[in-house]
Amino acid sequence: MKQLSLSAAVVLLLYSSQPALSQNTTGVQICPQLSCDVKNTKLDENTCFTLVGQGPITLISGQMCYNEDTAKPSDIPKVCPFDLQSGNYGWLDEGLQAQTALDKLGGEKEDKSQIKYRKVKEYCVSVSAYSQLLNPGRDCGADHQCITQKCKEGQCFGLDENENCYQHSDCGPGFYCRMAINWPFRALCAGQKGAYEQCQNDYECKNEMYCWYASAADRQKNTTKCLPLYSQDDGTIFGWGKVSTATGNGVVTLSDYQQNGKYCASGLAYQMSDYQAKCTSMQTVTYKNVTLQAPYNCTPTDTQTKCHINFAVDDSDATYTSTGNRAYVEVPCKCSLGGSKATQGFCASVIGSSFYSDAVANLANVLSSSNCHTLDRSNMRAQKDQCGIGVASDNWRMAVDKMFNVTYWPYVQVSNAYNCISMFFSDSYYNLIRKNAMLIGATSVGLVVGIGALAVSL
Ligand SMILES: *[C@@H]1O[C@H](CO)[C@@H](O)[C@H](O)[C@H]1NC(C)=O
Ligand SMILES: *[C@@H]1O[C@H](CO)[C@@H](O)[C@H](O)[C@H]1NC(C)=O
Ligand SMILES: *[C@@H]1O[C@H](CO)[C@@H](O)[C@H](O)[C@H]1NC(C)=O
Ligand SMILES: *[C@@H]1O[C@H](CO)[C@@H](O)[C@H](O)[C@H]1NC(C)=O
Repeated sequence: MKQLSLSAAVVLLLYSSQPALSQNTTGVQICPQLSCDVKNTKLDENTCFTLVGQGPITLISGQMCYNEDTAKPSDIPKVCPFDLQSGNYGWLDEGLQAQTALDKLGGEKEDKSQIKYRKVKEYCVSVSAYSQLLNPGRDCGADHQCITQKCKEGQCFGLDENENCYQHSDCGPGFYCRMAINWPFRALCAGQKGAYEQCQNDYECKNEMYCWYASAADRQKNTTKCLPLYSQDDGTIFGWGKVSTATGNGVVTLSDYQQNGKYCASGLAYQMSDYQAKCTSMQTVTYKNVTLQAPYNCTPTDTQTKCHINFAVDDSDATYTSTGNRAYVEVPCKCSLGGSKATQGFCASVIGSSFYSDAVANLANVLSSSNCHTLDRSNMRAQKDQCGIGVASDNWRMAVDKMFNVTYWPYVQVSNAYNCISMFFSDSYYNLIRKNAMLIGATSVGLVVGIGALAVSL
């Protein structure tokens, strides 16, 4: 953590010598400033995120909740609960920054707000807030931390196979609560399903799988199966489905590509026929018809021009994919939030690139070593426990850091923005690694057990 606080000092210096923000011709600031410098942001000790300005947003402030280097031994570790992925927080939307005079721009005013029903302030919380209502399998030190109210030998206890359950969280790790399809509809804990077994949703599958269409025939029958996440080479054909509500012939959204792409090592699949998907990779990123090189620089003040992520498409599929955006996806150009380079921007997604495939491979690696509860599949904090891959090796950190970098691609390209968001984004390594002092005893016992188990399984 020394490194982070050192760079925090650098951020401080950079921001204090920062020139005036760039403004557009009518004086509207398009890219806001991001700052983690308390002198500048005037955040009080317990606030870890806030916004200044509503339309446009002019300043996004963040702060580290707990500094390992300056903390006193008696200080309780704290983390910032700020979670950009949740959609619960106000945040920059470049397309809406210019919406000061809402009436002039037409449409529903409230849809044009970056802060509607959103939190614009967040407070530091003790890390013990993340040691409550734990699912079975999580490390615990006391009964009350577990959702089942039972901590047994350092792990939250859950029911065994074939025991009566009411919901997934009643069952132990490795199980989900299955309702029988026949009278009298008993609900029993059942083992998570393996590859290509039929499923209704992700929770029924093993942690390193998701529930999706394995083939065109399955898609036509609406049958879903447990598919190993991020496992298939380019060219693999399976069933295509949509998760977005976007309609129109050939209209596909980034979320559709992400969902289908979960079966592919590249993280990307295109629609090759009405019911078929094919794994592929990013071929180029173009902007104004010019091919960009990583990290895909663009102009965020020009909200009309999007980045085109073009896929490698087989010739035999070219006719089908020429309709709509079946062969590419458009993503916005986002502000880097990088201090003095305020108008610098980067394309919002890198789906299908080598960066993306590397990140998802690291994530899949963590999940395939996970014996955590099915409800904890996407909880990286849980994967740190003895039910997960743990932190004895670098694997967990690699998955956390690489996923962070592709998720927040535009913000990690300029070091002062990267350092600042790492301080207050709850899914940063810095925030995820914080642990409850009260649990340290239990965790170290867990680690020893975990390593023992690993050695046996090897
Ligand atoms: C500046 O912002 C205004 C919105 O208030 C917008 O109408 C105008 O097109 C912007 N100018 C440029 C050059 O982006
Ligand atoms: C599959 O689901 C869609 C909509 O969810 C429905 O319209 C269609 O009839 C279903 N097909 C089968 C074979 O059940
Ligand atoms: C990009 O190229 C296409 C076809 O070659 C053309 O229709 C379009 O106008 C070009 N766009 C820009 C921004 O140059
Ligand atoms: C994530 O991005 C930062 C900033 O660009 C970089 O320093 C770091 O090495 C990256 N982490 C990984 C694991 O690639």
